[in-house]
Amino acid sequence: MNVAQSIAETRAWRGRARGSVGLVPTMGALHAGHLSLVERARRESDHVAASVFVNPTQFGPQEDLSRYPRDLERDRSLLDDAGVDLLFAPSAAEMYPVGFSTGVDVGGPAARLEGERRPGHFRGVVTIVLKLFQVVEPDRAYFGQKDAQQLAVVRRMVRDLDLRPAIVACPTIREPDGLAMSSRNLYLGPEDRRAAPVLHRALQRATALWREGERNGPVLRQAVTDVVSAEPRARLDYASLVDPDTFAEVEGRAESCLTALAAFFGSTRLIDNALLPPPPGPERGE
Ligand code: PAJ
Repeated sequence: MNVAQSIAETRAWRGRARGSVGLVPTMGALHAGHLSLVERARRESDHVAASVFVNPTQFGPQEDLSRYPRDLERDRSLLDDAGVDLLFAPSAAEMYPVGFSTGVDVGGPAARLEGERRPGHFRGVVTIVLKLFQVVEPDRAYFGQKDAQQLAVVRRMVRDLDLRPAIVACPTIREPDGLAMSSRNLYLGPEDRRAAPVLHRALQRATALWREGERNGPVLRQAVTDVVSAEPRARLDYASLVDPDTFAEVEGRAESCLTALAAFFGSTRLIDNALLPPPPGPERGE
């Protein structure tokens, strides 16, 4: 595996790569969710590039930038074993040289939920994603359904700015008890870790009601809220039923939609979501 810390080395690698390139952008602290994106990219692309960069501009001033887990040596070895051809692991100075002052503003799907609670977050995300697209010039880029709003926002940027890469959405990988894998799960103490699968149970409740024929947006939303509220260690931030492309709230009859959740366990904030109807394949929202 090639390891590049500079944009120049990455561009040189891209210039040599013949055939298609798949890109998997990450912030490191890799787990099986990230690696599932790499596996998918391996199957579909001739070359796979992965980036590991804890992007400071997507963290708010009160957020966990300084304590975000970092272990580049471990990440390097996991990506090597997974068959990645190029690891791009730049410094913050490489991506944000002195005087950096440009950003991509996204409206639309970025306005609500995460965007509302984390001002500037999606601006930071799409600006770094656009830079990664410019540096790596991938044919396809892989994103997890776990961060459904991020996926919608990146797709919108690609559409609005006519960017080349095809965006590939990959299903959420879960722990055996249903908790969606996340680097932030490492912050949970044992009791919060035991309580956290309530998010998945709440989503399963919505899926079960959907299968019974319930299509009323507010009823489905209330059912999800009730499951999370019954767990004393969870503090619900939002439970929402939205259009998966626009993230507009479903007020009446739900057709094809997304149930999105955020909750605090202590100071750790976790998000999860499920598509309704559940898509075919291994991730059925069950
Ligand atoms: P990070 O949180 O490291 O996630 C990198 C990619 O892995 C994202 O596309 C995310 O949705 C996906 N992912 C995370 N957990 C997953 C799971 N349990 N199952 C499937 N996919 C999962 O998301 C980011 O980094 C950053 O915002 C980034 C896009 C790299 C820009 O800085």
